[in-house]
Amino acid sequence: MTAPAPPARAGLEGVVATSSGICYLDGERGVLAYAGHDIHDLAEHATFEEVCHLLWHKRLPTRTELGDLQSQLAGARALDEPLLRLVRLLPPGDAMDALRTLASALAHYDPDAGDASPQARYRTAVRLTAQLGSVVAAWGRVAAGRRPVDPDPTLGHAANFLLMLTGERPTAVAARAFDIALILHADHELNASTFAARVTAATLSDIHSAVAAGVGALKGPLHGGANAAVMKMLQEIGEDADDQRVERVIRDMLARKVKVPGFGHRVYRTEDPRATHLRRMSRELGERAGRTRWYEMSRRIEAVMREERQINANVDFYSASTYTLLGIPVELFTPVFAVSRVAGWTAHVLEQYANNRLIRPRAEYDGPRYPQTFVPLAGR
Ligand SMILES: CC(C)(COP(=O)(O)OP(=O)(O)OC[C@H]1O[C@@H](n2cnc3c(N)ncnc32)[C@H](O)[C@@H]1OP(=O)(O)O)[C@@H](O)C(=O)NCCC(=O)NCCS
Repeated sequence: MTAPAPPARAGLEGVVATSSGICYLDGERGVLAYAGHDIHDLAEHATFEEVCHLLWHKRLPTRTELGDLQSQLAGARALDEPLLRLVRLLPPGDAMDALRTLASALAHYDPDAGDASPQARYRTAVRLTAQLGSVVAAWGRVAAGRRPVDPDPTLGHAANFLLMLTGERPTAVAARAFDIALILHADHELNASTFAARVTAATLSDIHSAVAAGVGALKGPLHGGANAAVMKMLQEIGEDADDQRVERVIRDMLARKVKVPGFGHRVYRTEDPRATHLRRMSRELGERAGRTRWYEMSRRIEAVMREERQINANVDFYSASTYTLLGIPVELFTPVFAVSRVAGWTAHVLEQYANNRLIRPRAEYDGPRYPQTFVPLAGR
């Protein structure tokens, strides 16, 4: 049986739903820029903390502003003991389910909760960005039967996350690679989770509710869940598989009309500009570790997808091998996406509050003909 076609007006494809000064996206030319700054410049020269400032204030920070932001993030990273207890209390299971609960739980320990002033909301945005990394790392440790690790205020956001997850100070190369991954994932205009967050904020609900909505939307395999699906696919093919087997598996998926995770995009008609950097990092980290097979397999898959369908890799494809080489377990890939995207979600939510209008579209009705005759229960 073939799947029913989606309704004629599904997907809001090409619909411009709001104005925003945060992210510029040109899918035809493959351009992504945050507040006017090209993603390639940011990936090469900026840090995640500078990008957070850029998204929240729409300009890069001065040295003093960056120092202030780094201190605010460092001061907010440690989790209150009740939160760590909650992390331990959650049953084992899907990490995104845990993150959805924990993002919501953070509201109960936020001293600015309930204060709708722009200053309080900004402090919450910074705090949430600092803490989402901490809860993901703590959950990852506890799920692996280990004790959570305290943050180190002398380290940046990327290095801190790797320290809190692995228990070891990362090398400069690993910390920088993860920093770039955070930069690349920080925002992407009105993607599904950001739209969900903005819709929630537009009812004048609080930031934690908006971020929890974002986490829920990100969980799906058509959005943030794709990076984990890529790694599972690579693992199923097997690190020791030869090129013929790699090609066979992909051609077989295409013949069965199964979507190959990590390929295709609603907006880009060129290569996803983020994939360019992740491909390079996957290769470099693989070469340093003497473990290049995931990268080589990924290149093969990319070639088959180009040859068969002219479809390009998206941000998720090379994130998978990059994260694996950074020691991040596959079940944390999608939560790690959220660790970065929370900067974009909060930037959009603050922008929404600053000039709010309830988001409430209409639907084209295609249900049973109106009016129907009401038959009382006894007569049905
Ligand atoms: C991202 C995605 C949801 C975009 O979907 P969309 O804009 O609705 O595009 P469509 O699904 O309509 O795809 C258009 C065509 O390309 C094909 N296609 C798109 N992505 C594909 C993929 N990953 N593998 C195989 N074929 C794909 C579709 O089958 C369709 O072909 P058809 O016209 O012959 O039916 C889709 O590409 C996808 O599911 N990708 C895999 C999941 C993924 O990596 N998500 C992360 C995105 S950052």
